[in-house]
Amino acid sequence: MVQASTLLTLVAASVAFVSAAPATHSVGFAKRATCTFSGSNGAAEAKKNKGNCSTITLKDVAVPAGQTLDLTKLKSGTKVIFQGTTTFGYEEWSGPLISVSGSSITVSGASGHLIDGNGIRWWDNQGGNGGKDKPKFFYAHSLKNSVIENLSFKDTPVQLMSINSVEALQVKGISMDNKLGDTKGGHNTDAFDVGSSTGVAISGANIVNQDDCIAINSGTDITFTEGRCIGGHGLSIGSVGGREDNTVSNVMITSSTIKDSDNGVRVKAVYGATGAVKGVTYKDITLQNIAKYGIVIQQDYKNGSPTGKPTTGVPITGLTLQNVKGTVKSSGKNIYILCGKGSCSSWNWSGISVTGGKQARSECTNVPSGVSC
Ligand SMILES: *[C@@H]1O[C@H](CO)[C@@H](O)[C@H](O)[C@H]1NC(C)=O
Ligand SMILES: *[C@@H]1O[C@H](CO)[C@@H](O)[C@H](O)[C@H]1NC(C)=O
Ligand SMILES: *[C@@H]1O[C@H](CO)[C@@H](O)[C@H](O)[C@H]1NC(C)=O
Repeated sequence: MVQASTLLTLVAASVAFVSAAPATHSVGFAKRATCTFSGSNGAAEAKKNKGNCSTITLKDVAVPAGQTLDLTKLKSGTKVIFQGTTTFGYEEWSGPLISVSGSSITVSGASGHLIDGNGIRWWDNQGGNGGKDKPKFFYAHSLKNSVIENLSFKDTPVQLMSINSVEALQVKGISMDNKLGDTKGGHNTDAFDVGSSTGVAISGANIVNQDDCIAINSGTDITFTEGRCIGGHGLSIGSVGGREDNTVSNVMITSSTIKDSDNGVRVKAVYGATGAVKGVTYKDITLQNIAKYGIVIQQDYKNGSPTGKPTTGVPITGLTLQNVKGTVKSSGKNIYILCGKGSCSSWNWSGISVTGGKQARSECTNVPSGVSC
């Protein structure tokens, strides 16, 4: 007992910007503390002391320019709570601004908190394609059996959340408000990019952005439900192909609304690449005021400029669409399918009603049986 409390005292005494209260129970010999880090030293102190904290509260942390709020390799069971407003200094670099990894981790936002990227400092209409080097925002990489919940993000410089190499991650109640980017040059501000992961469940997301609401590049057992997406590029599979990992399987995208966006439902396979998209379901999807395509399935994708010539290296099989309904602008197209010969099969579409746009029937190519375009 004497040794344990001495250790705790040492921890408390040696840590500036930390209020260490005794944890309610011991983890082995040493107790892990409840820690609060704040202000401009908060990120550095959190990085230094994260291994000694069972709960890490980040209160009004101002992360210095060019630095990552480094919450990687957290001890199993650590809880992270964002409180107040989290801000970031300005530098042209690739980021990430925040990075979290570990097992059985919970990351959440306290009531009234905000994680503010102040992205206008980087926005130049070019996103990740040029201009200023813009930091990625939030890396949820190498997380296992973990939860990310109730985080509110504003004005990301470019993509928000990269979910990669995770196993069993729930992402609940995330909000992203990049509305300002609509008029101030926000671009490639994807909300969720998922790759090389197994068991990702995203629910209740509320997204306003300028690119994909979700983009799944690879991985299996992925769900996206009860989402509300405004202003972006759609609920996307892909682009698939040209990466290390090029298989997307067993995906369910359900009970979601997509509004004022370029596309609604979208599957994009990269031109000339290899890989596979299998077992993807879109169910109970509402489209509103879609500008380009209500539903678009294409095997000719190239960033910026699709070739118009589908290739067959990334077959799209087992694509189920059930109850996909809503409206497209008169200048847009309701449904566009561009498949290579034989590379789209076993599709099952029912309850599709997408109206308001042009008929794109003549442009649908190699459509599998049972689907009308
Ligand atoms: C815990 O804190 C002590 C004192 O600051 C430090 O020496 C030690 O490295 C920390 N342990 C971990 C796992 O972070
Ligand atoms: C997240 O928000 C929901 C709804 O307000 C609440 O019920 C839940 O307890 C919150 N979770 C955490 C970890 O704060
Ligand atoms: C197609 O999907 C419907 C549900 O939308 C299901 O009832 C039916 O069995 C499916 N058909 C095939 C061939 O999988």
